Amino acid sequence: MADVKIHTYDAVIIGAGGAGLMAALYASRKANVAVISKLYPTRSHTGAAQGGIGAALGNMEEDHWRWHAYDTMKGSDFLADADAIHKLCQEAIPTVIELEYMGLPFDRFPNGTISQRRFGGHTNNDTGKPVMRACHAADRTGHMILQTLYQQCIKNNVNFLDEFHVVDLIRVDDTVRGVVAIEIATGEFHIFHSKAVLFATGGWGRCWEVTSNAHSLTGDGTAICLRRNIPLQDMEFFQFHPTGIFKLGILITEGVRGEGGVLINKDGERFMERYAPNIKDLASRDVVSRAIYLEVQAGRGINGQNYVHLDITPDTVNHYLEQDGEDRRIDREYIETKLPDIADFTRTYLGVDPALEPMPVQPTAHYGMGGIPTDLDGRVLLDAQKSVLPGLYAAGEVACVSVHGGNRLGTNSLTDLVVFGKLSGSHMADYCQSAELLPLPDDAAGEIMAEFERLRNSNGQVKPHLVRQKMQATMTKNVSVFRTHDTMSEAISDLEELRDAYLNIQVEDKGKQFNTDLLETWELGCLLELSEVTAVSAQAREESRGAHARDDYPERDDERWLKHTLCYKETEGYRLDYKDVVLKDDQLDIEYIPKPRVY
Ligand code: FUM
Repeated sequence: MADVKIHTYDAVIIGAGGAGLMAALYASRKANVAVISKLYPTRSHTGAAQGGIGAALGNMEEDHWRWHAYDTMKGSDFLADADAIHKLCQEAIPTVIELEYMGLPFDRFPNGTISQRRFGGHTNNDTGKPVMRACHAADRTGHMILQTLYQQCIKNNVNFLDEFHVVDLIRVDDTVRGVVAIEIATGEFHIFHSKAVLFATGGWGRCWEVTSNAHSLTGDGTAICLRRNIPLQDMEFFQFHPTGIFKLGILITEGVRGEGGVLINKDGERFMERYAPNIKDLASRDVVSRAIYLEVQAGRGINGQNYVHLDITPDTVNHYLEQDGEDRRIDREYIETKLPDIADFTRTYLGVDPALEPMPVQPTAHYGMGGIPTDLDGRVLLDAQKSVLPGLYAAGEVACVSVHGGNRLGTNSLTDLVVFGKLSGSHMADYCQSAELLPLPDDAAGEIMAEFERLRNSNGQVKPHLVRQKMQATMTKNVSVFRTHDTMSEAISDLEELRDAYLNIQVEDKGKQFNTDLLETWELGCLLELSEVTAVSAQAREESRGAHARDDYPERDDERWLKHTLCYKETEGYRLDYKDVVLKDDQLDIEYIPKPRVY
């Protein structure tokens, strides 16, 4: 390992978004921790989360964690685990208060409590009406969480290694010994030797053409674990957020609808009244995204194109507020105060002033409900029997602790980050107290260095951007809001071809320093694998549930499919296994009976 620098810590955390930072804050209280990120930490994608963090504070109206839990289970289409949901919804309340005490500048109600707004699928369980549960800092909630946690980490002397790109996990049988990273500025390889490793690397929305995800969301941690014989759970469930800016995919927060905004088709109809008569535009995301697709398919897209309008203009909103029997009214000042970033984005990218005109929106690939399976302490699980891989943790979008099941409710990603970031960081710190630092194997970085040398010296015929375009095109056409056996066969066959093309890829930059050509080509390899896992897992699931909507199997089938998918990468291809859904929380003696979902 002559060319490799070795660093030693108790624990390393990969990724500096909300989950990574919260884990670091907790782990660093007892252990020597390094946070490694391919970005500067405050550029992490948590900063793009806009509308709010879900917690049943009940600041303005009655609310309970049990209601939050039921809504989350119903939103998941009964594929989430009850014990995980209970942990999420109970812990959400003290954790949001903890963030407030750390200095997070939440908006306030006039009585000084944290301001809350409505969001899709969050209801008063007695009346079925939307409830104000999304605690927010204007429409910059994720940004504020990121800044607050980063400041706390700096204050608590967490070690940061910025712009180091982690490319491999050092696993020896059923132990982990650290990770291998490339220093982006120099191209040098580094080993971070540790007792424990936590992945918090976020999602893989870049598999699709139109996405709300940043360029950095290439599923690195997810793919690294898959390559090190860790299964991926429930990858067929990928969420399309209903309101991305047309063509660009940039998120327009659900908070717009929470504040009264409505979706309108070419006939000027508020079409969600037909699809979800009770909560209309605030139905869960899978329901709203499908409705938009169906409107477009029926020829009711705006100007005959594949988008609809999201209207927050005061005249329209006040009309519907009056019709719905609500007292409040909105005006321009309200929009500029509660949704300043949205107003800014739409002016900048569309030339649309949202106080005067509706915004053109279409569903945008947003969030992976699946990921690396974990228990409630963030420990990575290896199989359907839930065997733990000691020392390996995952938290946030990269993980599947199974609180989102088939479809995540808006605001629950931020809750997931901070709650399970905290629990996994705490557990990891305790683990490091008793665990030994096991020796590095010989040539721990050899395999990945050889792969990078192969890529760097690759003089093939195929340009990486063309492979990326084709992958995104087939995923968008075939593994989208609606899918069928045939569309997924087409995707799988396209992806197999692209896998071969990847072996013949052309990397033009042969240098070492800031070689983004090389690193992006490696990221593309991650996306290709995750696309295949998604398509293979989705093709096998012959039912419709949550975000997985099949035209050829339009009903949910609890008899055959009330189970989690596990997908393993093996030499011959991908192998699927299944594991039970936890519908009963034995500790609290609460059980959920799957019901048809009506919104
Ligand atoms: O619509 C939004 O503000 C997104 C939030 C989320 O994905 O939870």
